[in-house]
Amino acid sequence: MLEKFERYPLTFGPTHIEKLDRLSAHLGGKVDLYAKREDCNSGLAFGGNKLRKLEYIIPDAIASNADTLVSIGGVQSNHTRMVAAVAAKIGMKCRLVQESWVPHEDAVYDRVGNILLSRIMGADVQMVDEGFDIGIRESWEQAIADVKAKGGKPYPIPAGASVHRYGGLGYVGFAEEVRAQEKELGLAFDYIVVCTVTGSTHAGMVVGFAKDGRERKVIGIDASCTPAQTKAQVLDIVRTTATLVELGKELNEDDVILIEDYAYPVYGVPSQETKEAIRLCARLEGMITDPVYEGKSMQGMIDLVRKGYFPEGSNVLYAHLGGAPAINGYAYTFRNG
Ligand SMILES: Cc1ncc(COP(=O)(O)O)c(C=O)c1O
Repeated sequence: MLEKFERYPLTFGPTHIEKLDRLSAHLGGKVDLYAKREDCNSGLAFGGNKLRKLEYIIPDAIASNADTLVSIGGVQSNHTRMVAAVAAKIGMKCRLVQESWVPHEDAVYDRVGNILLSRIMGADVQMVDEGFDIGIRESWEQAIADVKAKGGKPYPIPAGASVHRYGGLGYVGFAEEVRAQEKELGLAFDYIVVCTVTGSTHAGMVVGFAKDGRERKVIGIDASCTPAQTKAQVLDIVRTTATLVELGKELNEDDVILIEDYAYPVYGVPSQETKEAIRLCARLEGMITDPVYEGKSMQGMIDLVRKGYFPEGSNVLYAHLGGAPAINGYAYTFRNG
């Protein structure tokens, strides 16, 4: 589906699919859980889902003769860390706007984890005291204008690399990769569980899996806590991406499955149940999920298994999208494990 698009390789290649035997057994053994390890996809600053997206965006950035990648996220944004890493790798400068998206007051929140790594990689990090919003932000537009005013040539990458023309392509590639791996493994996945916030990971999967009729088997777990905005953004990206790849099939709102039940209390703050899911997965599988994103989708998957949402005998693929560096900002939360 992606042959006609230029791709700048930033990842190691197909990501590993691992069976979560002990977690599956712990939850009753009626459903087989697997994880596709997007969190281990690259040597670039601990990797994660943004790299698949950026592989299809960076050729455009290079072709534009830009000298500075300009992006935005929360203080502990994984996305901005990935943009900083890519800028370093391709020899561009990097300007990052880090907004106060999370009402979380760990003493070192703005010193450790993702933001620490972005600083080490040489990004120009600007803190902006604005709350959570996945839409286009004035602070980001100002940063782009500022780079220009200082004689630079900015290349804008929106939050999560989502509302970019090519933002959905990377996760179309994920679906293609899963299809090839299913042949090797001799099984098919009945459901794919994915954490959804800015939307292009989920949207790319919907388009990619629509090719074999599985668009409604992609189960998005909202972690934004603003699900109406997130769902609308997913649908927009689905439509743009389906047109780009010439899917030849209309996709609509009913094809975007977004479960809203696990994002509470707000974006970036883990509930008691999210923390329990993080511990359970870590203690049974040695797999680390974070309190902002993957812990919430892990909580969702565990709860859905317990509720019998997946019919007995289902193969469920959890897309582990990365994000572990942010856990350093939650040291107090996990001070007793
Ligand atoms: C670790 C992690 N998981 C999930 C997501 C959600 O992906 P998306 O923003 O494409 O919806 C993000 C980024 O926002 C992330 O960094």
